[in-house]
Amino acid sequence: MRFPAGFLWGASTSSYQIEGGNENSALAAWERKKGWEPCGKAADSWRLWQEDIRCLERLNLKAYRFSVEWSRVEPSPGVFDPAALARYAAMADALKRAGIRPMACLHHFSEPAWLFRENPAGWMSEEAPRRFLRFSERVVGALKESVSDWLTFNEPMVWLTAGYALGHFPPGVRRFWDMGRLFREQGLFRHVLLAHREAYQLIHREVPQARVSIAQNVTALEPATGSAADAAAVETWDHFMHRELLDAMKAEGTLDFLGINYYTRVFVRRSWMPLVPFRAFAAHAEIEKMLGPFLFRLLGGRRGDGVLTDMGWEIVPEGFERVLRAFWERYRLPILVTENGTADGDGSRRESYLRSHLGSMLSAMEAGVPVEGYLHWSLMDNYEWGSYAPKFGLFRVDRKTFERTPAAGAEYYARVAKTGEL
Ligand code: BGC
Repeated sequence: MRFPAGFLWGASTSSYQIEGGNENSALAAWERKKGWEPCGKAADSWRLWQEDIRCLERLNLKAYRFSVEWSRVEPSPGVFDPAALARYAAMADALKRAGIRPMACLHHFSEPAWLFRENPAGWMSEEAPRRFLRFSERVVGALKESVSDWLTFNEPMVWLTAGYALGHFPPGVRRFWDMGRLFREQGLFRHVLLAHREAYQLIHREVPQARVSIAQNVTALEPATGSAADAAAVETWDHFMHRELLDAMKAEGTLDFLGINYYTRVFVRRSWMPLVPFRAFAAHAEIEKMLGPFLFRLLGGRRGDGVLTDMGWEIVPEGFERVLRAFWERYRLPILVTENGTADGDGSRRESYLRSHLGSMLSAMEAGVPVEGYLHWSLMDNYEWGSYAPKFGLFRVDRKTFERTPAAGAEYYARVAKTGEL
């Protein structure tokens, strides 16, 4: 089993999760409000970015996905920090010199606190895409010489659901039951599409050889029972959570490839309970944690019986192949896996997770799916949105000294990246 020569091996991170010191992000005050573990210095990557490049080199990786922290580059409205932009440019240059392709993501969940002070409705207001574009112009201007691979948004549906349906992220809107109307009629989809379209055009104007997409989180969906109602519920959920935004972007011609983040599978059941959006109950581990096991089952929740990661997510490598095939069938765009990985505190699962998921991805490729590369989530242990407990890193990070040491499975990944063999 061998990957083609030129297949791109890499790793992903995001600014808020690794840089540390992002006190101007809306998330900093949010952590205090919610009683989350503070992000603090994270992996101290704002200071230790050269060390991060050495980590990539140690694993023979040739691509690095990072995000640019809006709240750092634009700490107050319209006021930009040239030193912060220069630091990202220096990192992108150094990556290129090391033979590592930089991929920049403009929006990975974290936003400046002032965005919500100016406008508590956040992305329900059309000011948000305007502000995002003003920021994007500066970032593209600073990175255009060194970065040609771009993502506008990371997991827009995860972010919007967390911020505007579950109240888990700022601005803390809890309108889960009303999601369809809220997203479609109150501007969220429209504003994200507008921001993506304009950022896409901006990047292409400035960077002729650019390739632009979003990273879409895709779970492998299965009907909870063999009933026709559950099959229809899968279709409804798949459309809303995975395809609606992508379909619109594809129709507008603003996707040069597809970025796919794959982690797990979810069972979906048709529900007749009020307050369940679209009457489709998607049994994510997070929903089970929120409801507790009793209510979860009462509502018809079903979880698979596979091995779980430390997030409680079921490990389902065959779902990866299914997702890759389905997204190629539908969009006919080359695919880059922008995230895939596991929270593995005791080091017992990463190597086998990698082996099985890379095998599944290779099967999809052998069936004709053009997967161009794979970026593991994550290069190092980082802030998992409220806690440092989940360990997603190929490198462990000492929380006091910030020393990086290879985690179990890292050596295996380095070998695959070098030889292309599983
Ligand atoms: C997000 C990351 C997150 C990872 C693991 C993805 O949904 O893009 O920020 O750390 O999953 O939960």
